[in-house]
Amino acid sequence: MSFSLIGTGSALPKTIQTNSDLTAFLDTSHDWILSRTGIESRHICIEESILDIALTASINALENAGIEPKDLDLIICPTLGGDTVTPSLACLVQEKLEATCPSFDISAACTGFIYGLDLADAYLSRDRNMKILIIAVDAMSKFIDWKDRSTAVLFGDGAGAAVVTAGTDLQSIHLTAVGNQHALCIPWPKGNHPGLIEKDLPLPYLNMDGAEVYRFAVAAICNDLRRVTRDAGIALEDLDFIIPHQANLRIIESAAKRLKLPMNKFVLRVKNQGNTSAASVPLVLDDLNRQGQLKPGMLIALTAFGGGLTTGACVLKWSKQA
Ligand code: UT7
Repeated sequence: MSFSLIGTGSALPKTIQTNSDLTAFLDTSHDWILSRTGIESRHICIEESILDIALTASINALENAGIEPKDLDLIICPTLGGDTVTPSLACLVQEKLEATCPSFDISAACTGFIYGLDLADAYLSRDRNMKILIIAVDAMSKFIDWKDRSTAVLFGDGAGAAVVTAGTDLQSIHLTAVGNQHALCIPWPKGNHPGLIEKDLPLPYLNMDGAEVYRFAVAAICNDLRRVTRDAGIALEDLDFIIPHQANLRIIESAAKRLKLPMNKFVLRVKNQGNTSAASVPLVLDDLNRQGQLKPGMLIALTAFGGGLTTGACVLKWSKQA
């Protein structure tokens, strides 16, 4: 089966936090952050809720697709979590849009958008008439320990959306998961049951073995891109654009070197967005779409990795007219 992307949207919160801003409360420097990650600034939800940016990106995607919320048959929201544990963020977006379709969140961390595309493809194999909104949203600023310089400098907040329906864009897709709590973990808050509060409970903040995730990420990009291009019957060199998860410029450079691909095939937004988790890939896709850089027939690979550990990649043959 296959699908086409008929609309994309995105939203970034207003507040921009530069590397220099971080030095006000962290023992770090602009030069360290830039040289180790390629990041100069990121957007943070201060004035907006997670729902606000999810809604804006969704409305943009629906307008770009030329459809109304009432036309939606499903809303899938890849996210680490919205403003509430329940209702799901997808249900809250559905309510605000005044849509009436089933809606649910999925948890695949930074790979969430590609997991969402795969799920949409499965639904479309059952009913080719469905119109599905995938709204990938994360506000990593809510999960960060802002006293931990090793993680606080890496992430930003954002939302990226796409509307998909039956079509011919998808050429191949591949997902993986290797359960691993040590490499990257965000524990749930554990409540205040009197039997628990005396014990040493982990704080509900992101903790990560950066070096382990780095090595995993480079291998994941290389393996997944080789796999999806082979499955699509094309060479890596045939790809017009590769949209990688925007975690760290050095990860992308290492993968490009290993794959012997020029860096200009990789679309980069990490400098001014940081790692926006599930939103990272669709934010870039929407930017390219809105800039009119995607032409019918172009071959685009999406590739992502993240908590789980999960990875995913796909090849799309773009069909939407600018
Ligand atoms: O979506 C997936 C999410 N995660 C990732 O993609 C993360 C993947 N990993 C990475 O991107 C890199 O491993 C990091 C950027 C997290 C770290 O880069 P690194 O080059 O591996 O640095 P390091 O962890 O080896 O740290 C080098 C030094 C250490 O000091 P010592 O022990 O050598 O004295 C750290 O304490 O840099 C220190 N350091 C910092 N210094 C200034 C760590 N964080 C900072 C900081 N500012 N923010």
